[in-house]
Amino acid sequence: MLVLDCGGQYSQLIARRVRECRVYSELVPHGISPDAIRARNPLALVLSGGPASVYAEGAPQVDPGIFELGVPTLGICYGMQLMAQGLGGSVERTGVSEFGKTEVKVDEGELFANLPSEQVGWMSHRDSVTAPPEGARVVASSSSTPIAAFEDRDRRLYGVQFHPEVVHTQYGDEVLKNFLYSVADAPATWTAAAVIEEQVERIRDQVGTERVLCALSGGVDSAVAALLVYKAVGDQLTCVFVDHGLLRKDEAAQVVETFRNHFHVPLVHVEASERFLARLAGVSDPEAKRLAIGEEFIRVFEEESEKLGAIKHLVQGTLYSDVIESGGSDGVAATIKSHHNVGGLPETMDLELVEPLRLLFKDEVRRVGEELGLPERMVWRQPFPGPGLAIRIIGEVTPERLEILREADAILQEEVRRAGLYRDLWQSFAVLPAIRSVGVQGDERTYAYPIVIRAVTSEDAMTADWARLPYDLLETISSRIINEIPAVNRVALDISSKPPSTIEWE
Ligand code: XMP
Repeated sequence: MLVLDCGGQYSQLIARRVRECRVYSELVPHGISPDAIRARNPLALVLSGGPASVYAEGAPQVDPGIFELGVPTLGICYGMQLMAQGLGGSVERTGVSEFGKTEVKVDEGELFANLPSEQVGWMSHRDSVTAPPEGARVVASSSSTPIAAFEDRDRRLYGVQFHPEVVHTQYGDEVLKNFLYSVADAPATWTAAAVIEEQVERIRDQVGTERVLCALSGGVDSAVAALLVYKAVGDQLTCVFVDHGLLRKDEAAQVVETFRNHFHVPLVHVEASERFLARLAGVSDPEAKRLAIGEEFIRVFEEESEKLGAIKHLVQGTLYSDVIESGGSDGVAATIKSHHNVGGLPETMDLELVEPLRLLFKDEVRRVGEELGLPERMVWRQPFPGPGLAIRIIGEVTPERLEILREADAILQEEVRRAGLYRDLWQSFAVLPAIRSVGVQGDERTYAYPIVIRAVTSEDAMTADWARLPYDLLETISSRIINEIPAVNRVALDISSKPPSTIEWE
């Protein structure tokens, strides 16, 4: 299924929801030509919502020829209004707008088959359709929008003013499923297993008998990408895991255990922590730290790959959201930024990219990872920055300070997992500031570091809110950190949202 992206905030969400119904869907620019659509041979089209009025200057338009393709088409919100405008109906600013949950009365329409006649729809519009396309029948209304949905069964054109992709729409999933399964007759066959099969084939086609290199970071993206490639071409793949010594407790060992011992993937484990710590000595500026780590990473990676001899391909865990972002407001465009998943890979190395996750959203990568047998801990790992713990140690990174933070962080992770909250949080971690404060332990006065607890909820890291962790959990974390780590005598909680703060402290 193709989603014609008219610039609405939910365009990606539509694609994800359709995929959750196990029908593969992709975003394409709204300006796509009917011929280009025909060439893709989709089972269905969706016109997404958009920010503008269909009559505004420069408003996203579609080629009306797409309505003649005979492909079942669903217009959502702005998309519905485009259909009305392009097919002989009308759209007006009626002076009544609807935002949020709205009671909708539905008639017998194919989209509403087997659903109650009254339901809640999520609305967000100023303009309204005031006459449906010629030949279409009105099948839903709300108190202020008489035309909240229409259908033209003969031409298989459908429009809804509300957003079925938004969770607040009571039967949104059912409406999408009615459209996909009943109207468009799309089979629900797009599963993690099907993705694996398809990608394995593609990788084999691309790589042939050549060798492939993959940099593992310990994160879910590079792990899943590597396993897909391994499944496709076996020992033609070599993974290089540059262990910069800035990972969390036991994480490096877990990467080695999983890849080398469990999956038997050829793995070069480069234990480079001394090199990285030497590079970081005396460096306290956050950007200088990032730069030092990035440069050192490239140097180590290049050295190791040279030892491996001639290799033609490099695996990268680029995700669909990166691809969409790089395409700009037009949806998926041709230019793709080079995405650095592991803290910057060598640009001088002349390698052809293998990107088996290019069409997947993050949650789909996780499902593929589960299907491939990747351990739960790796599949569900929270995002972790390339420069690792170095940017959570304010000021200089020394072996002693690294050890303090690593232990505190391990306690925090353990307790967050024990409380069953790990997956609910976007990130949870400890920060070591560059100050010390006075405390008293036993009869002794102490002068030691505080640890700051940072836990946030977020959808995409662009904005974030501090997580309301239960007091009992905070108490356990605090007392364990102070009791178990002699160099710490105080624990503080970061209650800042992003913006104006950032998630990380550096
Ligand atoms: P901030 O701190 O900017 O972080 O709110 C947003 C997200 O990006 C991650 N982050 C990084 N990831 N290299 C990375 O690979 C970095 O230098 C870096 N800095 C921040 C951060 O963990 C959060 O998920």
